[in-house]
Amino acid sequence: AEVVIVENKDAAGALVAEEIIALIESRPDAVLGLATGSTPLPVYQALRTRISGVDVSRVRGFALDEYVGIDPAHPQSYRSVITREVVEPLGLDPQRIHVPNGAEATIQHAGEDYEAAITEAGGVDLQILGIGTDGHIGFNEPGSSFASITRVKTLTEQTREDNARFFDSIDDVPMHCITQGLGTILRARHLVLLAFGEGKAQAVADAVEGPLSAILPGSAIQLHPHATVVVDEAAASKLK
Ligand code: F6R
Repeated sequence: AEVVIVENKDAAGALVAEEIIALIESRPDAVLGLATGSTPLPVYQALRTRISGVDVSRVRGFALDEYVGIDPAHPQSYRSVITREVVEPLGLDPQRIHVPNGAEATIQHAGEDYEAAITEAGGVDLQILGIGTDGHIGFNEPGSSFASITRVKTLTEQTREDNARFFDSIDDVPMHCITQGLGTILRARHLVLLAFGEGKAQAVADAVEGPLSAILPGSAIQLHPHATVVVDEAAASKLK
């Protein structure tokens, strides 16, 4: 992967936002792969201030993941988060923005349906990624197959603890999620992984320089011909 070390989150946001705008200008119906969590927020923030004058009416998007069994209207469902942080502020067409369906009633075929929708859209042009402290990308926790596709996974205790800050208590964090697989993510044409802070340094080093291993899901990016890793000094501190 190409590693870009930036001064701070704002610089990272600006850099990736410029890349996304160039993509949309060359391809007005570009397909964006959208991550949630804290990491991509500077990108969405930077896009907000730069997007006026860019025609985004045909932009399409696919979120990485969703909790299973959460009410889509819950403020912490990824459907809500994507609507609040991406779709509304950027003025995207909500009909063109997809989030895996975490409803329990249809969960049996939700993964397959999502894969079909991505394929029908012609695949993801630019996939934004964060990385978990345990090395997960999407919600592909350690042990995920590099060939995996969108499916239901059990969240690790670590990830539920990490995400408890978004809920009233850890007991409210769902136990399961539906996530694009590592194989799904690897099919995107450009991967842009962002990470900030010392807490991500080991995961970044493992992803960029570690052995290819299902135990280090982020290491899957080493198999991708066009992966860019945008990090601050702290997140880069364990790179050789
Ligand atoms: C979110 C996602 C996760 C996060 C990761 C890091 O859609 O797929 O892999 O990117 O958990 O989360 P933050 O950015 O909150 O540190």
